[in-house]
Amino acid sequence: MKKELQSINLQNIPNHIAVIMDGNGRWAKSKGMQRVFGHRNALTAIRETADAASELGVKHLTLYAFSTENWNRPKLEVDALMSLLVTTLKKELPEFQRKNVKINAIGSLTSLPKNAQKVLNEVIEATKNNTHFTLTFALSYGSREEIVNAIKNISKKVVNNEIEIEKIDDKIINSHLYTFNLPDVDLMIRTSGEQRISNFLLWQIAYAELHFTDVLWPDFRKEHLYNAIYDYQNRERRFGKTSEQIETNE
Ligand code: IPE
Ligand code: IPE
Ligand code: MG
Repeated sequence: MKKELQSINLQNIPNHIAVIMDGNGRWAKSKGMQRVFGHRNALTAIRETADAASELGVKHLTLYAFSTENWNRPKLEVDALMSLLVTTLKKELPEFQRKNVKINAIGSLTSLPKNAQKVLNEVIEATKNNTHFTLTFALSYGSREEIVNAIKNISKKVVNNEIEIEKIDDKIINSHLYTFNLPDVDLMIRTSGEQRISNFLLWQIAYAELHFTDVLWPDFRKEHLYNAIYDYQNRERRFGKTSEQIETNE
């Protein structure tokens, strides 16, 4: 079912979309190529998705680019991914500026190679006043690690009498996550036919709609994003209430 732009209701656009960009390796293999060829060809999909999302009025797009578990891949592949990150960020900076895109990163960023950290920080700094759209890269990201980290930081504040135990709530936990400056996820997309979350944004997707597609990430284009948003718009987000309550806006 292919959806065109016209089928999308512009009054009901998800504010925050998160994507598990999966299937680069299988895409390359299907073409008789090395896995890294798939990663290189993921860039068009990223550009198309970010452009389509921002044109529709999505404000936040968060892309799972490298998980804490991905460090266990062969060194050659990890190195290639890190160098791809650096060259892409450098190359795309003028486009981010032209399109008024703010770049953000979540994850254990200090685990990244020094050069990648440096370029990433430069791009974040250079785009920090851009307002149209926030593009967040999850790099060396693991949701459990993020939560462990938040618990440690909150505990330190409790010990130092900066936070009272009784005052710990959703908001305080949110403010100690890597995503402290992002709203909850409305729509999470995973490509390549896998139907799992793989340690991505566990806290933040509490009430997200999930969309799974068989498309391999390097093949993902605007129309696939439209499909996902169309799917999202045809769900009823009840947040624990009944259908009748949602209809009468109770
Ligand atoms: C997703 O594609 C990209 C990263 C995890 C970095 P994969 O590399 O996981 O591709 P498959 O799942 O092996 O096809
Ligand atoms: C999830 O994909 C991580 C990213 C897309 C960066 P993986 O390919 O690493 O996930 P699993 O291993 O299939 O769960
Ligand atoms: Mg994969």
